[in-house]
Amino acid sequence: NTISVIGAPMTYGQPFVGTDSSPALLREQGLLKDLSTLGWRVEDNPDLDFNKICSEATRNHPRASQPNAKHSIEVGAGNKALAEIVESKLKMGRFPLILGGDHSIGIGSLAGVLRAKPETGVIWVDAHADLNTPDMSESGNMHGMPLGIMMKELVPDRRVIPGLEWMEEGVVPRLSPDSLVYVGLRDIDKAERKCIRELGIKTFTMYDIDHLGIGRVMDLALEHLLSKGPNRPIHLSYDIDAVDPLHAPATGTAVRGGLTWREAHFVCEHVVKSGALASAEIVELNPTLSDGQGASETIELGYQLIAALCGERIF
Ligand code: ARG
Ligand code: MN
Ligand code: MN
Ligand code: MN
Repeated sequence: NTISVIGAPMTYGQPFVGTDSSPALLREQGLLKDLSTLGWRVEDNPDLDFNKICSEATRNHPRASQPNAKHSIEVGAGNKALAEIVESKLKMGRFPLILGGDHSIGIGSLAGVLRAKPETGVIWVDAHADLNTPDMSESGNMHGMPLGIMMKELVPDRRVIPGLEWMEEGVVPRLSPDSLVYVGLRDIDKAERKCIRELGIKTFTMYDIDHLGIGRVMDLALEHLLSKGPNRPIHLSYDIDAVDPLHAPATGTAVRGGLTWREAHFVCEHVVKSGALASAEIVELNPTLSDGQGASETIELGYQLIAALCGERIF
């Protein structure tokens, strides 16, 4: 099997620079070599050149980004490029491993995944729901919107958001609310809460993890997606802020009370064990938002989680 490493150093979905350095830092840990030790044929791709793609897009766009969807032209253009490479790698039978960047890259990852494999189910591991639409969002930051934008129920016409014209209905499929499971939530905006309820999205918050244990939660999460088709592909979207800030302090929107070191790993190990994992992304590592030690611990954890979701096991 071939893994295709795709660096997506996006920063326009939130206010900080720094998360763009994480693909390079993860590679520096020895990622490519370790993936081949795990038995993969490894293909590396040059990081998507968002400096170029995004600035050209802003220069050429007839409209301007709006305050309720900040930098939507940059986010939109970057994600269009990401969607194309993800789609093509999947269609070549490869496993796309996407290294963020902020979580607005979920837009492009999901667009590419759903174009190649519309039946995909998504596990979203995060402190946050990232289900805002531009109309709902309290911050206007698009890293809080990838799932909102992918759902028809929430954004009926994505083309009215400057930069997202390429996400025309029929060209980019939608994510259906029952094809999504949340794990690790603990900081949900008021409007998101309402949507999660109304759409009936399967949600395992930190409360559920405390109550049931991570083992049961992951069994139920997989069962929810795979009962509709045992051979259904799964996309894992892993926001490092799902993990407790004790272990992952270097991230833009840290929230206390998160996954332990082992719980964080177990999520990956158990999804792999299902045999259904077809694509994955890890996002929101920002080494500039902590001291040196916090930064290296966060990168190291991100690295370990990738190894786990690429098949590394304890025994
Ligand atoms: N809900 C907040 C917002 O929409 C925070 C989102 C944080 N998202 C993330 N990918 N870290 O602004
Ligand atoms: Mn988050
Ligand atoms: Mn009980
Ligand atoms: Mn997120």
